[in-house]
Amino acid sequence: MAQLYSAPKGTADLLGDSARAWDFLQDSARAVFTRYGYQSIYTPLFEHTEVFTRGIGEATDVVGKEMYTFEDRGGRSLTLRPENTAGVVRAAIQAHLTDNNAAAKLFYTGPMFRYERPQKGRQRQFYQIGAEGLGLNTAAADAEMIMMLWEYFTTLGLQRTSMRLLVNSMGDETCRPAYREQLAQFIRENDAALCKDCKRRADTNPLRAFDCKNEACVAVMDSAPLLADVLCDDCREHNDAVLQLLDAAGLKYQLDPRLVRGLDYYTRTVFEVQVDHGLGAQNALGGGGRYDGLFQDLGGKPTPCIGFAIGAERTVLALQAQGATVAADTGLLVYVAAATDLQRDAAFTLTMQLRSRGLTVLCDLQNRSLKSQFKQADRAQAHYVLIVGEEETTRGGVTLRNMETKEERFVTLGSVVKTLTSERQ
Ligand code: HAM
Repeated sequence: MAQLYSAPKGTADLLGDSARAWDFLQDSARAVFTRYGYQSIYTPLFEHTEVFTRGIGEATDVVGKEMYTFEDRGGRSLTLRPENTAGVVRAAIQAHLTDNNAAAKLFYTGPMFRYERPQKGRQRQFYQIGAEGLGLNTAAADAEMIMMLWEYFTTLGLQRTSMRLLVNSMGDETCRPAYREQLAQFIRENDAALCKDCKRRADTNPLRAFDCKNEACVAVMDSAPLLADVLCDDCREHNDAVLQLLDAAGLKYQLDPRLVRGLDYYTRTVFEVQVDHGLGAQNALGGGGRYDGLFQDLGGKPTPCIGFAIGAERTVLALQAQGATVAADTGLLVYVAAATDLQRDAAFTLTMQLRSRGLTVLCDLQNRSLKSQFKQADRAQAHYVLIVGEEETTRGGVTLRNMETKEERFVTLGSVVKTLTSERQ
């Protein structure tokens, strides 16, 4: 017997309900995002490693510990994308999308890869839905991005009260360097009480210490100096304008001066949507922010940008925890059954005719008995079964069975489509 294999650790096959859930998330994203003027972009699942090391930052966990990096047969260092913002920016620079101050609104859905310890809501191959607004510098762009994210979650069916929208400003090149130094100094002064990762962060990435889950570190960081208190005038003005627009829209948010996010490219506005139930420690459904320096980090011209990404697995878990249906309404489903072998060809022909009229129709392709065709129709959750039998054929029609009420009646072939579509309304 040949060896049986299972999917690699931290990956999952999407089939049945989980495939339907992913379709639902993608379809809903397309529906919401296109109303905001977003268009699809598809970039490679792997990029030159430097796109991520330069884009995301050498000192981040993602680049330092989590990337799937390999050398291809030509000796190039390539990396499976751990996120897609850097890839989208690389593509936009390559295609000159934002030359002459043009703006581009792009969205994507697809797998990302991070070598993390798998747990509920955390996988090594996971699926993201993301949007990137390139060449947009106003507070209105930030507010629109946050509002689109919120609208997406509510459209899926997540209860507003179950979610928390956190907002912060990461400052910019004017105010952040001095603050970074101040924070590094604070960490050094308190390093006796900190874990070894946070001690190291004083030299590499002091802001990441705010994200440490270690209780002792959390206690120390509670009294750390905050960037919110030392923002430069431009960053403060921008932040105030964003919050004003959110207030005007009636969107409730919490200012969280300790929200730092895990990637180094952020400037100014950052945000995250979290939930309290159903996800345990991995409670961030999605997040993002402004990244005004990334184009330059990847060799492009200065281009202000803002975006977000949503974790599909976590979003599905949150929806399930609220008892929501995680699948699109598939619409009317019809099953055409042949009463005996003599009617199989007629049943097949009728199936094809109904499909050509735009209906979703199944029929038996395994020569099953009438009884097991009914079972199949039931399993497929067909709304109606059309029975093609000898007597019906002589009378020029079929028996229409309503699978919910179990009612049956004769309908002529000429009126089948009309009957089915009007019954459904
Ligand atoms: P991120 O916060 O690293 O941001 O990831 C976004 C979302 O992806 C997270 O909130 C989470 O729901 C999901 N996620 C991350 N890692 C995993 C994992 N290992 N397993 C399951 N889900 C996961 C970004 O990726 C940025 N590119 C977002 C962005 C776009 N910022 C600006 N534009």
